[in-house]
Amino acid sequence: MPSLIRRTLIGRMLFVGTLVLATAFVDTRPAMAEYGDVIMNNNSDAAGMRPAVFPHWFHRVRYSCKVCHADLGFKFKAGGNNIDMLKIMDGQYCGACHNGTIAWSVENCNLCHSGKPGTPTQVHESKSHELLNPAKPPVGKK
Ligand code: HEC
Ligand code: HEC
Ligand code: HEC
Repeated sequence: MPSLIRRTLIGRMLFVGTLVLATAFVDTRPAMAEYGDVIMNNNSDAAGMRPAVFPHWFHRVRYSCKVCHADLGFKFKAGGNNIDMLKIMDGQYCGACHNGTIAWSVENCNLCHSGKPGTPTQVHESKSHELLNPAKPPVGKK
């Protein structure tokens, strides 16, 4: 009986230890290289829509950074682009692709407006934006 307890205790400790190790591993690598979902809520809540969710990783495995951050003009800042539906329907920002040709079109409101109501604009569960937004801007950049 006591040995059984000991075995389960050791088993649990090993299990927890493995989890901690696994989490440490998962956490360090991707946190350097990838960015979490961006939740955009500049105007959505106020307009009675759920916040828009932009799955960054999903998109960046399909396109280079340049497509969005240079060609389409997305600034490197969650909520920094003042996106609204007029611009999207005019083919700007998300609308450059979500037009029914490259990707499904704007009438699929809920596929983008899927955030929990009240969630402020942010990069979900990401620490990388802290690293990438130094207090002082790099020389030569605004
Ligand atoms: C399909 C378009 C797309 C691609 C491809 C893309 N991004 Fe983004 N990125 C966005 C959008 C949209 C935002 C959020 C902007 C907003 O909220 O207005 C963003 C935000 C960011 C941010 C700011 C996050 C923060 O902390 O505020 C960084 C940094 C970033 N991207 C880096 C990258 C890098 C590096 C790559 C390539 C490896 C990349 N992006 C590829 C669309 C894209
Ligand atoms: C450069 C092209 C491009 C841009 C810009 C773009 N998307 Fe997408 N997006 C795609 C493609 C392609 C898919 C995959 C469509 C499919 O599966 O049919 C997609 C899929 C998605 C999905 C579904 C992801 C999933 O798990 O299936 C969401 C949500 C989404 N986009 C939101 C956005 C939002 C919000 C913006 C603007 C902030 C945006 N996208 C800008 C190309 C783009
Ligand atoms: C491809 C992604 C996408 C789709 C599809 C989409 N939206 Fe949006 N929408 C956005 C983004 C991104 C914003 C900016 C979010 C913010 O910062 O509040 C936005 C903002 C809004 C806003 C607030 C700004 C404004 O234009 O008044 C409303 C209202 C809105 N959407 C309604 C809709 C409705 C209704 C539909 C379906 C007919 C829809 N959206 C479909 C991405 C999308």
